[in-house]
Amino acid sequence: MIEIKNLKKDFGPKHVLKNVNLNIPKGETTVILGGSGSGKSTLIKCLIGLEEVTDGHILVNGKDITKIHSEMKLAAIRRRFGYLFQEGALFDSMSVGENVTFGLKYLTDVPEKDYPKIIKEKLALVGLREDVAQLNPSELSGGMKKRVSLARVLAIGPEVILYDEPTTGLDPIMSDIISDLIIDLKNKLGVTSVVITHDMHSAFKIADHIAFLYEGNILLYGTAEDFKKTDNPYVKQFVNGSSHGPIQMKLMKE
Ligand SMILES: Nc1ncnc2c1ncn2[C@@H]1O[C@H](COP(=O)(O)OP(=O)(O)OP(=O)(O)O)[C@@H](O)[C@H]1O
Ligand SMILES: [Mg+2]
Repeated sequence: MIEIKNLKKDFGPKHVLKNVNLNIPKGETTVILGGSGSGKSTLIKCLIGLEEVTDGHILVNGKDITKIHSEMKLAAIRRRFGYLFQEGALFDSMSVGENVTFGLKYLTDVPEKDYPKIIKEKLALVGLREDVAQLNPSELSGGMKKRVSLARVLAIGPEVILYDEPTTGLDPIMSDIISDLIIDLKNKLGVTSVVITHDMHSAFKIADHIAFLYEGNILLYGTAEDFKKTDNPYVKQFVNGSSHGPIQMKLMKE
C-alpha cells in the first residue's frame, strides 16, 4: 500500500532520515521502533506531507506523493490517512463530541444532522459510552483522551491510521487496552496501521511487522519472532531496554 524508497530528510545540517526503505502492506500493522529523537515522528509526518522530504519517494498505491505540490491534491491524500498525534491534541474549548466531528467539517461534506450518529458510533468503536460526548477534555483521564483522539481519527473513515506513541503515559493495563483496540480496529475495519512505539510489550502484541529505525536507516525489519531472536546487538539492547550496549544515548541534544 505504501512504499518508502530511499527517503532522506534533513533539518538544516542534521541528517535525521538518511536512507529509509520500507514497505507498508495493506491491512497490516507495521510498528516503527527507535530511540528518542531517531526520527520516527518525522517519518510519519513525511507520509502525510506534513514535512517535506529532502529526497526519495513515497508511493501510496503506486502514486508518488512527494511529487504532489497542489494543496488540494495533498488534502485528498490526507483524508485517507488518520493521524493520532503524539500529544493527543484535543481542543480544550470544545466538548468531546465537537472534537470527534471536528475533521468532518473541514475534510468532508457529511451533513451536520448526521454528526450525533457518527459521534455515537465512533465513541462505541473505541469503547466509550455516548454520554462522554457532553464532557470537556479536561474531565477525561489520559486513557480516555487517547480514545477520544482515536474516535476523532476514525470519524473521517481513514484507510490508513498512523499512531504516534499511542500508549505513552498510560498505565500498563490501559496500554494493553489501547493495544487491543488497535488490533480490533484492524480486524473490524481492515485499516492499514503504522504504529510508533517504545513499548515493547505493545509492539510484540500488535505488530505484523516491525521496523527498527537507527541513525537514519532501518536496521532490522521483521516479525516479532525475528526481533525476539535477533543477534543484532543494537536491536537486542533496545528490545531488552538496557543502558549497556553499543547504543550510547546522547543525554544532551547537540
Ligand atoms: N521541525 C523541526 N525542525 C528542526 N529539527 C527537527 C524538527 N522536527 C524534528 N527535528 C529533529 O529531528 C530529530 C528527530 O525528531 P523526531 O521528533 O522525528 O524523533 P522521534 O523519534 O519521534 O523522537 P521521540 O521518541 O522523542 O518522539 C530530532 O533531533 C529533532 O530535534
Ligand atoms: Mg516522536
